[in-house]
Order: sequence, then C-alpha cells, then structure tokens
Amino acid sequence: MDLKNKTVIVTGAAMGIGKACAVLFQEYGAHVIIADMNAEEGKKAAEETGCDFFVTNIAEKEDVLALKEYVLNQYGSLDVLVNNAAKQTEKSFSDFTVEDFASDINVNLTGTFACIRILSDLMSKGSTILNMLSVHYEQPRLNKFAYDASKAGIAILTKESALALADRGITVNGISYGAVKTPMNRIFEEQPEVMESAKAKVPLKWIGKPEEIAQFAYTIITQFSEYSTGSIFTIDGGRRLK
Ligand SMILES: NC(=O)c1ccc[n+]([C@@H]2O[C@H](COP(=O)([O-])OP(=O)(O)OC[C@H]3O[C@@H](n4cnc5c(N)ncnc54)[C@H](O)[C@@H]3O)[C@@H](O)[C@H]2O)c1
Repeated sequence: MDLKNKTVIVTGAAMGIGKACAVLFQEYGAHVIIADMNAEEGKKAAEETGCDFFVTNIAEKEDVLALKEYVLNQYGSLDVLVNNAAKQTEKSFSDFTVEDFASDINVNLTGTFACIRILSDLMSKGSTILNMLSVHYEQPRLNKFAYDASKAGIAILTKESALALADRGITVNGISYGAVKTPMNRIFEEQPEVMESAKAKVPLKWIGKPEEIAQFAYTIITQFSEYSTGSIFTIDGGRRLK
C-alpha cells in the first residue's frame, strides 16, 4: 500500500512510538489523525507534525464513535488504523488490586477492540489494521500483570479480527517489540541504572528507538499488509530469547 493520500488513524500518538508513526506516515503523504486522550500533548503534536488531532479516550465508546463520525465527515473512509494507545500499571502482586487490573485491561484490550469494531465500519477491501503488542504478550515477568495480559489478549484479538474481517478484504496484523525509550519508560531518564539493566536483557545490547518501531510499522503496512493477516511480527534485538 502506498500511504500517499491515505487516511490513517494512530491512537495514542501524542507522544512516544505513536507520534513517531504519525510523523513518518505524514512524511509519506498520508492524512494522519492523532487520536489521543491527552488534549494538550495531542494538540502540540498535531501542530508540530501537520497531522489532525481528535481528542479520544479509547476506553470510552462514545469517544470512539465520535472519532468515527469525524473521519467519515472529513475523509469519507479509513485506510489504516494503528492501535497504539496503552497504559501500564506496575506494582507487586500483593499491591496489584483488581481495580488496577481492570483499568489496564479496559484501555489496552477493550479499547483496542472498540477501535477495531467501530472504526472498521469505515474500511473496505485493501484497508489494514496494525496492533501494537510487546514481547511480554508471550514472555512472562513480574509486576505488570494487567499490561502483559492485555497484550496477550490483543494477540488473539489480532487473529480473530483477521478472521472476522477477511471476507471484506481487510487485514489485521500486530507488531511486537521490547523496551523502547519513550515517556512510558520515563524511568530510563530518571534512573539510568534501570535502562542499563533493560539493555542487559537484550542480546544485541541496545534499546529500541521510537523511529525504528515506526519504520517497522510502516514496512509491515506498506509491504506486507495485502496478503499477511492475523500475523504478529517482531523487532526486539532478540529480547524475547532471554
Ligand atoms: N515503550 C516501550 O518500551 C514499549 C514496549 C513494547 C510495547 N510498547 C507499546 O507501544 C505502544 C506505544 O507505547 P509508548 O511507549 O509510546 O507509550 P507512551 O506512554 O509513551 O504513550 C502512550 C500514548 O497513549 C496515550 N493514551 C494512553 N491511554 C489512552 C487512552 N485511553 N485513549 C487514548 N490515548 C491514550 C497517552 O496519552 C500517550 O500519548 C503501546 O501500545 C505500548 O504498549 C511499548
């Protein structure tokens, strides 16, 4: 798919990996809509990049319906949806409440489902959806129980929505990666020793950059989204091996 003049939504693109995707896709001539709940950062990102901004909390069905109306009125249809918005609660098992768990699942998993279910109504043959996962969708660790479970949920959701949308010629894939330096990992700035320990877990011994993930997303969307569906592609410096 050539992104020129295509309509693309990237959720959670006010900062981090989503913003890097928005910047890159815009450079390739797409009409990018940044859909993020952070109005201040979202507006700033839109001004910086020339993308549209639509304030959206993906965990609120009404917001996703309003986003659909906006895209319908402005562009008439949707070519690419990147489900990138996510949050992460980090607590020990004994401190992790049921409410903490439900909150991450509600944004990351239910919100992703809402975007797929509602926004795919604007799609037609040749359109594609890309979901952002994490190596921890299949690799267990401690302290991020709900986030990792939500990513495992997104893995099966990727496959099941690929099946559900195949008859309409819409493909659904996911990309998985390890630690990336973004606002989600602000601890890397605050405590460099945490970043060193994250680096040590990567066989190639370096931490990914948002721009690398964006380039990978761009490659999957533009080169492989036509015949690939229900697949999860990985870029992680070997992190999933350790
Ligand atoms: N940073 C990493 O190390 C890493 C590793 C693997 C996977 N990921 C995944 O990559 C994606 C992007 O991560 P990031 O590090 O750039 O995150 P980030 O925290 O830096 O940015 C996330 C963005 O999502 C937005 N957001 C959060 N909840 C939202 C909601 N309910 N509705 C709309 N927007 C919402 C935030 O406002 C923010 O702009 C996420 O899906 C994350 O799980 C990140």
